[in-house]
Amino acid sequence: MVLNLLEKLLVEHELSYEEIVYLLTHLDDASERTLFQYAHQTRLDFYGNRVYLRGLIEFSNVCRRNCLYCGIRASNQSVERYRMLPEDILQCCKHGYGLGYRTFVLQSGEDPWYTTDILVSLIRDIKGRFPDVAITLSIGERPFLDYLAFHKAGADRFLMRHETADGVLYARLHPGTSLRERIASLEALKEIGFQVGDGFMVGLPGQGPEELAKDLTFLRDLHPDMIGIGPFIPHSQTPLHDCEGGTVRQTLIMVALARLLVPDALLPATTALGTLHSRGREQALSVGANVVMPNLTPARVRPKYQLYENKICVEEDSDQCRSCIEWRIELAGLKVDMGRGDSLRSMKRRPSESTAMGAI
Ligand code: 5AD
Ligand code: FES
Repeated sequence: MVLNLLEKLLVEHELSYEEIVYLLTHLDDASERTLFQYAHQTRLDFYGNRVYLRGLIEFSNVCRRNCLYCGIRASNQSVERYRMLPEDILQCCKHGYGLGYRTFVLQSGEDPWYTTDILVSLIRDIKGRFPDVAITLSIGERPFLDYLAFHKAGADRFLMRHETADGVLYARLHPGTSLRERIASLEALKEIGFQVGDGFMVGLPGQGPEELAKDLTFLRDLHPDMIGIGPFIPHSQTPLHDCEGGTVRQTLIMVALARLLVPDALLPATTALGTLHSRGREQALSVGANVVMPNLTPARVRPKYQLYENKICVEEDSDQCRSCIEWRIELAGLKVDMGRGDSLRSMKRRPSESTAMGAI
């Protein structure tokens, strides 16, 4: 039965919720190896052996939210907060551009200091200076009109994980907000025309095979352009400090299943996985992942952006991060690609969009 389900995944890229639960509760070592092989094969079929690099700039660790798992949650008084000025962010892009990056991921807590106007002019400045780069935002929930303004200004992509697709667990982990609101934001981003990155954490307290199957069916139905999946790592200054956290194995299984269910998505090998195991990212790259996001954040603020503790690449500068990652990718038998690396889906979308525009 498990092998039949894996065959079905390989050929049809489709499984029902019940089938996913069955698979998750019946995987043994041999079927797990088959799952990993199928995921790797699917990645090669769709994207070849390339690994796309994105330069990550963590520009502010100020956050108005209080997610129970997150080290930079508003109530954590022990965090020394920082904000990078737009000109410093631009400078960081300049440095990254020189290193060869053609995608910048601008990530922060939900920080209202960065008004719509500030972000719009920053996006315009980056695009004006470096017209051939893609800008990815990862700044959390904002009103629809803000998203629209960012897209109009030239932002190409937006990352915002659903975190967990179980409504009750979501509400417990995210005080004052709901899964429904998160889904509405994801739908809005899609409708506006962003390449959308979704994803979730693995190993959250209260998350078993049923909840994880909900995460996977959510991905299957949303069909995002990018999917970030990482282990939950407990942070000592959060309410979840004494929880267990996710494992490398559980996370790799989810990465492989995500590759098979959404075969044309770009899938990062997450830093959280690299933090749990020194070769965690390489392992993800061999079971379907095809993106790595080296850190470009200036060294002086980098240690302050800790969603979880013992994060890797905090001591290294961006030049070191890039060469370390290139070396790891090549050792894994894969090839670094410094291009924009748009998702296959978005490349297919583009011609029909331009026809539609032309008709208006
Ligand atoms: N462990 C692992 N991942 C975390 N994130 C936030 N806190 C943690 C943690 N303690 C993830 C969330 C968020 C992404 C930027 O980082 O999934 O979407
Ligand atoms: Fe910042 Fe969760 S604590 S968005």
